[in-house]
Amino acid sequence: MQTPQLYTTDVLVIGTGGAGLRAAIALAERNQRVLLVGKRPKMDAHTVLAAGGINAALGSLDQQDTWQYHAADTLKEGRFLGDAQAIELLCQQAPQAISELERWGMPFAREADGRISQRYFGAHRFRRTCFVGDYTGQEIIKALLREVERRQLPILERVYISDLLSSRGRVNGALGWQLDSGQEVLIHAAAVIVAAGGHIHIYKRSSSRRRENTGDGMALAFKAGAALADMELVQFHPSGMVWPLECEGTLVTEAVRGEGGRLLNRDGERFMQRYDAERMELSTRDRVALANYTEISAGRGTEHGGVWLDVTHLPRTQIESRIPRILAQFQAVGVDITREPMEIAPTAHYSMGGVRVEPASHATSVPGLYAAGEVTAGVHGANRLGGNSLAEILVFGRIAGEHAGAYAAANQAPPLDQALIAQLRATNADWASRDGSIQRSLIAQLQQTMWESVGVVRDAATLEAALNRLTSLRQQAATSPAGPGDLAAALDLQSMLLTAEATVRGALLRTESRGAHQRRDYPATDPAWQRTIVIKPHRSAAGTLSAMSLTTARLPEPSPAVRALIDDSELELAGRLVE
Ligand code: FUM
Repeated sequence: MQTPQLYTTDVLVIGTGGAGLRAAIALAERNQRVLLVGKRPKMDAHTVLAAGGINAALGSLDQQDTWQYHAADTLKEGRFLGDAQAIELLCQQAPQAISELERWGMPFAREADGRISQRYFGAHRFRRTCFVGDYTGQEIIKALLREVERRQLPILERVYISDLLSSRGRVNGALGWQLDSGQEVLIHAAAVIVAAGGHIHIYKRSSSRRRENTGDGMALAFKAGAALADMELVQFHPSGMVWPLECEGTLVTEAVRGEGGRLLNRDGERFMQRYDAERMELSTRDRVALANYTEISAGRGTEHGGVWLDVTHLPRTQIESRIPRILAQFQAVGVDITREPMEIAPTAHYSMGGVRVEPASHATSVPGLYAAGEVTAGVHGANRLGGNSLAEILVFGRIAGEHAGAYAAANQAPPLDQALIAQLRATNADWASRDGSIQRSLIAQLQQTMWESVGVVRDAATLEAALNRLTSLRQQAATSPAGPGDLAAALDLQSMLLTAEATVRGALLRTESRGAHQRRDYPATDPAWQRTIVIKPHRSAAGTLSAMSLTTARLPEPSPAVRALIDDSELELAGRLVE
């Protein structure tokens, strides 16, 4: 075995997407040592796929907009399951995140007079989404990376973290390996920030690429003792590609509808008229996704099981300048969207639940462990507003960086626990010796199960069936035979099993329909369920993880200024989607 590579730092940041990079910059601003680790190449974190834009109440086009309106829209469209404290922080601080990006060279789209352009995204009352064409996430990563590189912050690329390390009741590092060389990587740190994305790859059709968003950040935190929350709240984006099959799930940005795209069923009917006549295609994501799902399930879908998204009525110049990546994405599969419609269907897109953090610090319940970005729960409730995730990664990346830095400054890292490391190495060696093709096949079966049984609409029967299936898949993984190993696949599968189980258990417990969580057997929103579901790890006497325990917790009230912008009737009606 090669000698392990040992690193020592003040704060370890796991994940090199927007949240991780922003956290690292915050640490550098405090003159602290930081080490960034990502399992993908540094310019290729999932953030680069974020297309449509980033929200901030700048009021550059609609001057009435304020952070309070932004917060009220976020709360309301999250069906009142978002954490008001986190939402208010996000909306107050998003304009600062835009200024920082400008300072770091972000080429925002601008009006002729130089103001930053802002466009509509679904369910915003004002034009609030700042953008760079339909590749905003990519430009954010470029801007952040320029700053990270200017400050010479170290990044380890293609390193897979298998476990967080702890000692004396707190986190103090991580164990992993370099994916290309196989060399073990051992990191000793006074604090750790997990910014490793979501878990939507548990679904067969998702807007993530292979081997990303496999729930490893959530699993790392949970195995270290942190609680998860609201895992059943998975956002299904209304528009993912359906054809050809190798492109299935790939995001077709909401900016297409923001620019005037129309949804049509097989009969050419503009069906949103029947679901939300007022907002039509710019209705909330949960409603549009459910409308698309309903049209397809009712037999009014296209040949490949989708609906049509049409921009052929828009000027070619508008398509070329405002949604160029979508134009190219469809050109690559032989579809000219200036002349023919796109075939689309719902796709699993975003984890609205995740690691439970304290909003003002983004600390988890485990000393020394922080989390930021999609890996966390809190802001989005039951239906995330498009454009809020890019704001979230910047605002809370910075907050997590500042607080983890303060923790690291006040608390020296305890020595590494060599017995724990030996035990983790032995477990990894065992997984690495098992036939990787079996682990990969179990992943595919898990994804199929989750898509069929825990998708856009679920019920007790499908959820119970999914739980049984997950148990069986877990047993098959544990007893799989030796063969050419694939440790990354084996660990991906373990994280996916854990996060899928948390998703199903949360979905079973939440006996109502609200936002993206639609229960066929509980079609109404139940005011008693305006609560967050908390999932804690149980430890057996031997200290090993044995089960999940689910409880519920109250949500904080919004401040009076934000509450004043929400009608009582909206509070009452929120979430009644399934007729
Ligand atoms: O449709 C989109 O461009 C997605 C944006 C988002 O998820 O925020």
